[in-house]
Formats: sequence, C-alpha cells, structure tokens
Amino acid sequence: MRGRFITLEGIDGAGKSTHAAWLAEAIAARGHRLVATREPGGTPFGEKLRDILLHVPMAHETEALLMFAARREHVVQVIEPALDRGDWVLCDRFTDATYAYQGGGHGVPTAQIAALEAIVHPGLQPDLTLLFDVPLAVSRERLLRSQAGGRSLDKFESEEQAFFARVRTAYLARAHEFARRFRVIDASRPVADVRAELAELVAGW
Ligand code: TYD
Repeated sequence: MRGRFITLEGIDGAGKSTHAAWLAEAIAARGHRLVATREPGGTPFGEKLRDILLHVPMAHETEALLMFAARREHVVQVIEPALDRGDWVLCDRFTDATYAYQGGGHGVPTAQIAALEAIVHPGLQPDLTLLFDVPLAVSRERLLRSQAGGRSLDKFESEEQAFFARVRTAYLARAHEFARRFRVIDASRPVADVRAELAELVAGW
C-alpha cells in the first residue's frame, strides 16, 4: 500500500519546525515507517540549492525555478520511492510554500508556478497539509526572540512585515481553495495546546 504524504506549512516564526520534530516521532510511534524531510533541500543537491536560496539575492523568477529544480530531485530521489515502498513522508514545506512565498510574497504569477508544478510533480499532491497559522505580530515576536538568542535571520526571515502579510494571505487562500487536504492549525497557542491537537489527529492514523 502506498504511504501517506503529509506536508507542513506556515509563515516564518509560526513554530512549524518545533512541531515537525514532535510530529515525526508521534507518527513513528504509531508504527508507520516514516521519512522526515524538508524543502528547499531533502537531497544533497537540494541542500546546496537551499544554501543559495536562503542567502543569495536573485530575481523572483530565479527563486521559483530553483525551488522547483530542488523539488524535482527531491520528488524523484526521495518522496516517490518512499511512498511507493509504503513509507509515510513528512515534508517540512512543499509547493504550497512556492505559491505563498514566490507567488503571494514576491508576485510571481500563479499560472507560471502552476506550469512548473505540472512539470515537477504531475499527479502528486500531499494527502494532508497542516498549515500552522499565526498572526503577524506573533511570528515577528518569535523571530525577534530567536534573533536575540544569537541566531541570524536568513533572506526570507529578514523580509518586511508586508511581505509576510501577503504570504499568510496566500496560504489561507490556498487552504480555502484546497479545503479537503488542508487543516489550518492555530499556532499562536502555547506549544502544549498545539501538540494536543496534533496528538488527537495522529491518534486516528
Ligand atoms: P524554513 O522552512 O522556515 O526552515 P527553518 O525553520 O529551518 O528556518 O525555511 C525555508 C525558507 O524558504 C522559508 O523562509 C520559506 C522559504 N521557501 C520559499 O520561499 N519557497 C519555497 O518553495 C520553499 C519550500 C521555501
């Protein structure tokens, strides 16, 4: 039986990475073989592109093209083989992030992104997408706190508030458009409360 493809999305500072690690353990504890991976990245080639994407300034279209170049290798080398083996795949960001960041945030036309999506993963969509949603003030406060803790912000994290507002709006619009596979999680609550909601979800798997 084919595995289940679950993706995690949200604006920077939503706390997605914290929940990703916990979720991976919870899914494995249910007895599912799990591949936990991320984008951009997920392959040695993709991780090299990640480093460039997160630190080098470039045209918005270049950014979209490189995201999808990394994604193609990820789909071919990692995601499809895992799903075919029956493994579950938990992916920290996928194509919804390109619609939200390069599309919503940077204004790359949706039709162009859709054309790349059709080349890179025809027929493949997540079975479930968890959107960790927080108001901008919360994400900003979390990013500033992690910066105060000594972590330097990458290219996207350093964007202005208006950028994140557009990214969030684009994510919520996709959640509305693809309501059957999306679940919006209020990630402004304390970690324990979000975790309780996730635990309830996982208990059904
Ligand atoms: P992120 O997933 O937040 O990783 P970390 O939690 O380690 O910081 O960082 C990836 C960044 O890449 C994030 O700012 C969003 C951006 N991104 C895009 O702009 N488009 C994409 O298609 C993807 C996958 C990510």
